[in-house]
Amino acid sequence: MNGIKLIATGSALPERVVTNADMAKIVDTNDEWIVSRTGISSRRHCSGDECHTSLCLAAARQALERSGIRPEQIGVCLVATLSQDFLTPATACVLQMELGLPEDTVCFDLNAACSGFVYGLHTAECLLAAAPRKYGLVIGCEVLSRLTDFTDRSTCVLFGDGAGAAVVEWNEAYPSLHGVLGCRGNREALLVPGVNTKDHSYIHMDGQTVFRFAVEALPRCAKEVAGKAGISLDQVDRFVFHQANQRIIDFAVKKLKVDPAKCTGNISRTGNTSAASVPILLDELVSSGALTSGQKALCVGFGGGLTWAGGLLELA
Ligand code: ACO
Repeated sequence: MNGIKLIATGSALPERVVTNADMAKIVDTNDEWIVSRTGISSRRHCSGDECHTSLCLAAARQALERSGIRPEQIGVCLVATLSQDFLTPATACVLQMELGLPEDTVCFDLNAACSGFVYGLHTAECLLAAAPRKYGLVIGCEVLSRLTDFTDRSTCVLFGDGAGAAVVEWNEAYPSLHGVLGCRGNREALLVPGVNTKDHSYIHMDGQTVFRFAVEALPRCAKEVAGKAGISLDQVDRFVFHQANQRIIDFAVKKLKVDPAKCTGNISRTGNTSAASVPILLDELVSSGALTSGQKALCVGFGGGLTWAGGLLELA
């Protein structure tokens, strides 16, 4: 057995709170519809000088500070995102410079949409096994407000900006994450523009297709992780599910027959922050004492790609 444990977390949210009442001034919507269909009451949007890089840096610095790990001890730095400031240099390369990580740190950005952070944890676990230094920095960050079509009421109410970061340590004696990762390639369900923007300039989502995929993928992935780890779902201390829609989470909680008190989230305050959603929630749970040393969090992300990723992460 060998794997990673979570040493410390950090997060950063933009200052500006955008309420459902604010959204109703932009598109034909209302608080009742948004809350009942999604569970979202408000989200954060970047303003002023805030940007993807500044959110990433703030979350990473907080996690590093809390971990007591020095930058020169980091061997791997991964940023999960689909909304970075620059395609190159990768955000992870900017972090190497700003945080003073050693030049032989493996640094790159990773795009697995909302599954990105858990893809990043699994990737870090694999890379750290071969790295000379055994600490990794894994970040999920999005500025989806820059990719949002604010004339499309079915998508613009959903997304928010933010960053979450984790410092992890690899050790031969630590249990594996038991990562369960997968992909069912699909261009129609969820499309975010790249250099070929002739089809769509903003996030385009077929909400119902993604919803149907999510309610199947989330519980399946959670069960597979527990199966791989050889534990029952009752032995999990916390479930950290991607905050896409409260109805998706409620459906999964029912299907898995797990204690809803172990599945509390933050979607009402953050909206869907894609790759940042799992690490922001993880940070909230650690900071509030809801996840304590020795406890296990079963994390699951799902979304664009279509992708899914789950893993069992123990707090050191
Ligand atoms: N306010 C008011 N009415 C609205 C709004 C709104 N903001 N948005 C849509 N409606 C209307 C529609 O026009 C439609 O009206 P009609 O019946 O007159 O045509 C009606 O509400 C129902 O629309 P649906 O699309 O059927 O609404 P649904 O209940 O499916 O909810 C939603 C839509 C919230 C998008 C849901 O499908 C969903 O959450 N999907 C999953 C999203 C997700 O998980 N994404 C994760 C990946 S994101 C990523 O990877 C970046």
